Parts: sequence; structure tokens; C-alpha cells
Amino acid sequence: MLSDFRSDTLTKPTPAMLEAMFSATVGDDVFGEDPTVNALEAKAAALFGKDAALFCPSGTMANQIGIKAHSNAPGELICDKLSHVYLYEVGGIAFHSGMSVNLTEAELGILKPTDILERINLFTDMHKAPSQLVVLENTCNKGGGSCYELENLQEIRKLCLEKELRLHLDGARIFNAIVAKGYSSIEIGECFDSISICLSKGLGTPMGSLLIGDRDYIQKCRRIRKLFGGGMRQAGFMAAAGIYALEHHVGRLAEDHQLAKAFGAEISGLSYVEEVFPVETNIVIAKLDKQIVQTEFLTKLASNGVKAVPFGPQLVRFVTHLDVNEDNVNYALNVLKKMG
Ligand SMILES: Cc1ncc(COP(=O)(O)O)c(C=O)c1O
Repeated sequence: MLSDFRSDTLTKPTPAMLEAMFSATVGDDVFGEDPTVNALEAKAAALFGKDAALFCPSGTMANQIGIKAHSNAPGELICDKLSHVYLYEVGGIAFHSGMSVNLTEAELGILKPTDILERINLFTDMHKAPSQLVVLENTCNKGGGSCYELENLQEIRKLCLEKELRLHLDGARIFNAIVAKGYSSIEIGECFDSISICLSKGLGTPMGSLLIGDRDYIQKCRRIRKLFGGGMRQAGFMAAAGIYALEHHVGRLAEDHQLAKAFGAEISGLSYVEEVFPVETNIVIAKLDKQIVQTEFLTKLASNGVKAVPFGPQLVRFVTHLDVNEDNVNYALNVLKKMG
């Protein structure tokens, strides 16, 4: 058996999703004439209570367009040191937007209003890049799928409005947070100026993300997407997968969370596991004991049919998703128990 926990991006479309893709009506989206892309964008915007949305090939592109459209260099962006936009988007904030970054060191990547307040640079300070934008990540991947409380988000929103800071959400896994915490997508929409969501992670599509916001902002983003080479043509085949995923794959994320929690609880008892991060959604991060050589451990695990990824010194990440079930989890636990 192969149990592949490396990422929730590994999922393949289900037969029903493929069916939806095959039967999509399409057109040229750069001309604004793909009815399925238009329907997906309208659906995503309505879900979060915003005017408009923009279909993008990837989460990285959605975040980087979103950041560029908010930025006016020279300026500064505040985000956590664990955030994807800072760590894993190839230095795009500096390259595309010419902004510097002021990093918070929040617990599990979940910021509090004070983390932001302490880092605000005023425009009147001649020496500093003025703060323009805050980026939050919910759930936070490097934080082990950690989630924001709604009240915390509302307080951060209030602070950002007071300080005239724009607020962007990297919501690659926002539906995991919505399912785990029980808040609504509309409540999330009220807290942010812009939101990126990924269809290709827990929701199981082959590709695609959406950037969501107000009409003028998304119009500006549409131009930047073209600049980035992200204008797509008959993208409706992919958009159809996205519509299918939003309609059928959100509720089932609870199953991924349940499996991840059970898996996390079991592996926290293994002799060579020093610590497991709190499991709130579909990500389990385990810290291996000092004696274990991480690379050897992962190679041995893979040779026994269980795949996971290194996630920092002695850290290993396991992700549950549409293509792993209870049998995969039980199989992996058996392998892990024999590895001590
Ligand atoms: C939190 C987060 N944001 C953004 C992205 C970027 O998505 P993509 O791989 O589609 O560029 C990822 C990808 O893993 C992610 O985990």
C-alpha cells in the first residue's frame, strides 16, 4: 500500500469532478467570454460577500498579484516569519512589489493585534518604509494547520482600519479553518480587503486559485495577472472543477481533520517523537527525537510505502486529504510503530 501524506496538493480529480470538467461550456477568458470561469468567479465572490473575483493558475500568483495591487513602493508589509508569502514564494514580495517585509514571531503563525501594532512604521518617520499592508495566513501551513479565532480576526481588522493598513488573507486552506472553527465565509470576507483561496489543496482540483475583493481592486488585479502572464483562454474546464469542488468537497474536509487528529494522537505516543504540534485541521507536524537522522527516517518511511516531507530541523509534516483514507492512516501507523 502507498500512503502519501506529503501534501493535499497531490489529489487527483474524482470521476465526478472529471465529468463536470468534460461537460463545461468554455470561451476565451482573456476576452471575458468563458461562462464557466465567470460563474466560478461570481460564486467565489458571493461566498465571501465581495464584489468580484479573479481566477488564477496558482495560490502563489493569487497572493503575489494581491500584494502588488495593494502596494505602493517604497513601503513595508507585515506578516509572520512562518508565512508562505514570505518563505515559499521565491522572494516575490521584493521582486514583484518592491516592498520590504517586517516579520512577526507569533505562536504557530497566528498574529495578535499587538504583534502588528508593535511593527507599524509611520509615514512621517523619514528613515523607515511606511507600513502599507498586513498579510495573515489561515490556516497557517508552517504552524501545523493552525487557525485564527474569529474575534482575533475582527480585532486585527479594526486595528488595520484605524491605522489605514490594507489586510490580505492567504486563504489557501481557508475552508479547512471554516470547517474546523465554524465561522462563515461571509464573516471571513468582512475581515479582509482581499482573500486568496486555493481550489487545488484540500478541495481536490488539478489547479487553480481565486483572488477575491472589491470591483476596482479586482480590475487592477486582472491587469496584473496579464502582466504576470497569467491570462488564460478556455480555462472553463479547470473552473468547472473548481465549481464542483466548492459544491461537493468543502463539508468533507471534516473527515480529513478527524483522520489527522487521530493520527497525531497516535504518533505523539511513539518513543522517538518528541512533540506533535496541536492538530486543528488536516496538517500534522511531528518533531523527531535528536537521535533520529531526519533524512534516513524519511527514506526508510518511503521505502515502506509512507511518504511525508521534511518541514524544518527534525520536523516532519503529514497532511491528510481526499486521496488518503482510514486504511492509509492505519497502514502508516503500523509502519511508524515498527520504526522506533
Ligand atoms: C499557505 C499557502 N499559501 C499559498 C500556497 C501557494 O499555492 P500554489 O502551490 O498553488 O502556488 C501554498 C502552497 O502550498 C500554501 O500552503
